Amino acid sequence: MGSSPATPRHFLRLQDLDTREVDDVLDLAGRLRQGVRGADLQGRTVGLLFFRGSLRTRSSFEVALHQLGGHALNLNAASDFWSLEERTGVVMDGEAPEHIRDAAEALSCYVDALAIRPAPAGRVWERDRLDTGIHAWAQHSKVPVINMESALWHPLQALADLMTLRDALGGDLRGRRLAITWTRSPAPGSPAGVNSMLLAALRAGMEVSLAHPRGFDLDSAVLDEARGEAQRSGVEFQQVDSMDTAVEGSHVVYARSWWPLSSYGNPTLTASRLARETGWCVDERTLALGEDARLMHPMPVRRNLEVTDEVLDGPRSLIIQQAGNRLHTQKGLLSLLLRPS
Ligand code: CP
Repeated sequence: MGSSPATPRHFLRLQDLDTREVDDVLDLAGRLRQGVRGADLQGRTVGLLFFRGSLRTRSSFEVALHQLGGHALNLNAASDFWSLEERTGVVMDGEAPEHIRDAAEALSCYVDALAIRPAPAGRVWERDRLDTGIHAWAQHSKVPVINMESALWHPLQALADLMTLRDALGGDLRGRRLAITWTRSPAPGSPAGVNSMLLAALRAGMEVSLAHPRGFDLDSAVLDEARGEAQRSGVEFQQVDSMDTAVEGSHVVYARSWWPLSSYGNPTLTASRLARETGWCVDERTLALGEDARLMHPMPVRRNLEVTDEVLDGPRSLIIQQAGNRLHTQKGLLSLLLRPS
């Protein structure tokens, strides 16, 4: 890992790292958590572009850079930026006064990496799923681009989730059982974190049960990839329409709400679908169906709707460790990504 100015090494999805590199990041993150010093990033700057809000990613990224001696340049992209054109070859007579190409090349003169959370348009899934925004930044940037959650992937969350799973279950995750379950929320989030977790867990050799109501399937290409990962790892990946069925016998329950892709961009239809799906809440009874099961959720979490207070505040909840591991894994990633080549 590491990059030269001519060939920046981007981190757009977890699969941009091979399994050895993931191990390296997680091992380094563990040492950093114990107080070992990471890379010295003095004089190095990472530009942060949040085109939509964040609590954990923004704060953990800024603190990670600070603790490594580097500098975070938060560009307040959600409020202080004009819109950017991402299509190539168009006559720019519309709303956007600047092209991503020019923004990316200019910023590359000042910073050592760009970390970006794009804001998908939210109208047509077939368009948003292409993640054209983050790909345009990566295509034109002369420095590494780090995805801080696009429409399809949230690789930084997946690194912290893998570290949390290792902490809870031991270093080798092979054969351990993970239940990923949809939970109900009036305003579900993106499936990006679940997509990344699903592929990461299967690549690590976990057996995965994915539960959601009918009509809330994940992106079909992600599911195809998940089946491929399961086959390569020689593990089982099953999809069910019952939280209880998924949780039965599991070691970890990963809860998260996501919007139905089949009514993406149609808030009225989405609201009527969500209203029908009662009961998708992780409580003590649900967790007891697992095998001494722990609870994970990437947050933000709606208490007593997605997961009960009793579970979230109980001894089997890992959500704060997950949030804390965002800091350590991002320090590990930055140490390896920005080290001199
Ligand atoms: N889990 C996560 O990415 O949190 P934020 O949206 O607060 O960054």
